[in-house]
Amino acid sequence: MEKYISVKELEDAAITLLPKAARDYYKSGATDELTLADNRKAFSKLRIRPKCLVGLTGCDLRTTVLGQEVSMPLGISPTAMQRMAHPDGELANARAAEAEGTIYTLSTISTSSIEEVAEAAPKAVKWFQLYIYKDREVTKNLVLRAEKAGFKAIALTVDTPLFGLRRADVKNKFTLPQHLKLANFEGHLSNKIHQSGKGSGLNNYVQNLFDKTLSWDDIKWLKSVTKLPIVAKGILRGDDAVKAINAGCNAILVSNHGARQLDGVPATIEALPEIINAVKDHNVEVYLDGGVTTGTDVYKALALGAKMVFVGRPALWGLAVGGQAGVQRMLSIFRTELEYTFQIAGTPTVSDITSDMVRHENTYCK
Ligand code: FNR
Repeated sequence: MEKYISVKELEDAAITLLPKAARDYYKSGATDELTLADNRKAFSKLRIRPKCLVGLTGCDLRTTVLGQEVSMPLGISPTAMQRMAHPDGELANARAAEAEGTIYTLSTISTSSIEEVAEAAPKAVKWFQLYIYKDREVTKNLVLRAEKAGFKAIALTVDTPLFGLRRADVKNKFTLPQHLKLANFEGHLSNKIHQSGKGSGLNNYVQNLFDKTLSWDDIKWLKSVTKLPIVAKGILRGDDAVKAINAGCNAILVSNHGARQLDGVPATIEALPEIINAVKDHNVEVYLDGGVTTGTDVYKALALGAKMVFVGRPALWGLAVGGQAGVQRMLSIFRTELEYTFQIAGTPTVSDITSDMVRHENTYCK
């Protein structure tokens, strides 16, 4: 895996290896994919302002997330159906997170079950991403299983009343290949994913089974079934962040779902400052994902107030290229880039990274 020295190289290799339907599903953003490009572009508009001669003795990337120590401020966001990328799918991905000492988030619609992942990576800090099904007993059961299996948080996805319109999936009539299954379910909750019908089979599955009537009041219900902390995943507005906290959520993940829901929404790094500002009087952690492909991207998000940063697609690219070893390579590329960035910027620990370390390019032109 050593020949890959950037996340971009892993992506390029993965793109050539993956079958068309899986590749299109992993890569796509919503409709014209403007936000998909913006998630990346917005990072390039931020400038890091290094401090010189700080008397370095090394650097320490460690941080804590919801009280758990992680080896660096980069973890893995949930992505569905990972066995399309590699036969070991979620198990390989979780094992890589365990080996690298960071967080693995398992999707509700995974091709390995909660229990299989827990067994494969018992020491990883694992979070469970929750979609709320119309059938609340089904949903409750998922949460209880995750809690029993030692998962440390529920990442409740709040940006998905329905799945976004991804044109490639519509064209491909995307469904999960027959030899794979949605491993957290039995019967029609698992089988329905194989029915294509009109357009994307995945979107049809979601429209049939997920509860689009959800409101902030439903957090009460979720809190009544679990003691695990709840991370509201998919927040893009300050007022929604406050609503999430008032409803009982414990942390905020600023995310636009990898630009896969609604095109034209802000890049996540653009939305972050509004949310940090809105929650400044509440004692909650804020995280970010979306378009992060380098150590300097992670650094910029930390400087703007994120406590932890996550990646979705980069883990899929690593997985497709080399299973567990590929995901570990992806994480170690980020680790190396972070070590360089922390030291050359003159901020050897996470707590040294203050908001003045980054400025928008426009503020240099005035
Ligand atoms: C996702 N994402 C996602 N989110 C979620 O809450 N549940 C899920 O099952 C999935 N599935 C999923 C599949 C694929 C193929 C992608 C690319 C994304 C969104 C994901 O958690 C995360 O927010 C984004 O992937 C972050 O953006 P990057 O890192 O992919 O740019």
